[in-house]
Amino acid sequence: MLAKLDEAEDALVFNCGMAAITTIYLSTLKSMSTILVSKEAYGVTQQLALNLEKFGVKTVFGGPETEEIINSIDKNISLVIVETMTNPLLKVIDVDEVIKVCNETGSKIVVDNTFVTPMLYKPVKNNAWLVLYSLTKYIAGHNDVIGGSVAGDAETIKNLWDWRKNLGTIMNPFEAYLILRGLETLEVRFVKQCETALAIAEFLKEHPKVKEVYYPGLKDNPYHSTANKIFEHRLYGGVVSFKVKGGKESAFNFFKKVKIIKSTPSLGGVETLATYPILSASKSMPDKLKEELGITDDLIRLSVGLEDVEDLKEDIDQALKD
Ligand SMILES: Cc1ncc(COP(=O)(O)O)c(C=O)c1O
Repeated sequence: MLAKLDEAEDALVFNCGMAAITTIYLSTLKSMSTILVSKEAYGVTQQLALNLEKFGVKTVFGGPETEEIINSIDKNISLVIVETMTNPLLKVIDVDEVIKVCNETGSKIVVDNTFVTPMLYKPVKNNAWLVLYSLTKYIAGHNDVIGGSVAGDAETIKNLWDWRKNLGTIMNPFEAYLILRGLETLEVRFVKQCETALAIAEFLKEHPKVKEVYYPGLKDNPYHSTANKIFEHRLYGGVVSFKVKGGKESAFNFFKKVKIIKSTPSLGGVETLATYPILSASKSMPDKLKEELGITDDLIRLSVGLEDVEDLKEDIDQALKD
C-alpha cells in the first residue's frame, strides 16, 4: 500500500522513522562520503549524521531555503536528505528543483515527506531516489504506534531489506497491523486536519496575544506559492506554528492552561497536540542553528487533530489569556 500511494516500485517498513533513516545512512554512506542535511531537518536526523563523523563521514548543512540547499549540492555530495516541509517553521521546499539538481550531480536524494504525506506530494514519482516517512505521524494517525517506511526502486529496497536484517530495524507485526488500519483512513483524516489547521491559522493571525503565525496555507505566507506549485489539492498540512507575545512565560502559560489540546510531543494523530519545539523536535539541533533559524522560546507548534474547530479555537483563546 505504501509503495502504491507514492507510485514507487516497492517499499519497506521499519520499527520507527529513525530506524529507517539509520538503515539508509549505514547502507549508503562510507568513509569519506559527504552527506548534506537540510538546516531545518528533524534534530535527530542531523545529530545522527554528525555522529557518523567518527566513521569518516562528513556532514554539511544546507538551506533552510530551497536556493541555499541547491547551492550546497555538488558532485562531492553522495547523499542529500531534505524534508518537504520544515519543522517547526513550516517552510515549503521546492523539492522538484532540489531533485533536479541532485540528479544532475549524481547525488542520491532522500525526501522525508512525513509532514505532507503522499496526498500532497509524491517525491519518487517526481524522480527522488527514496521517500521516507515516520509512520508514527499521519500515516498511522492515532498517536498509538511507532513506525517508519521507505519507498523507491525495487533494487534499492532489496538492498535495504538486507541492511534491515543486519541492523534489526524491522517492524513488529502488531504495529504493522495498526498502521495498516490507520492508513485506510488517511485521506479523510488528513483532509479534515488540513481544513481545521487553516481555520486555526487564520484565527491565530487575528489574535491579540499572537506575535506571528507560520502556516503555508495563509495567502501572505512566503511559502504559499511554492506550496501551490508542488502540493496537490490546495491543502497545506495539519501543523500550525506560532509565536506568542510575552516570551517563554506566555508559552509556558499556554501549555499549562490548554484543556482539549494535549501538551506532548509528536504530530499527525487524531488528537490536537501542542509542543515546544525548542525542547522537543529541535532539541538536538545545535543552539547556534536554532538561534539562526528563529526557533525561539516563544514558539509553539500545534498538530491539529479531528476535534471540532470551534472547540479548539475556544481552548486556544482561554489558554492565551494571562
Ligand atoms: C520529519 C521527521 N522525520 C523523522 C522522524 C523520526 O521518526 P520516529 O519518531 O518515528 O523515529 C520525526 C520524528 O519526530 C520527524 O518529525
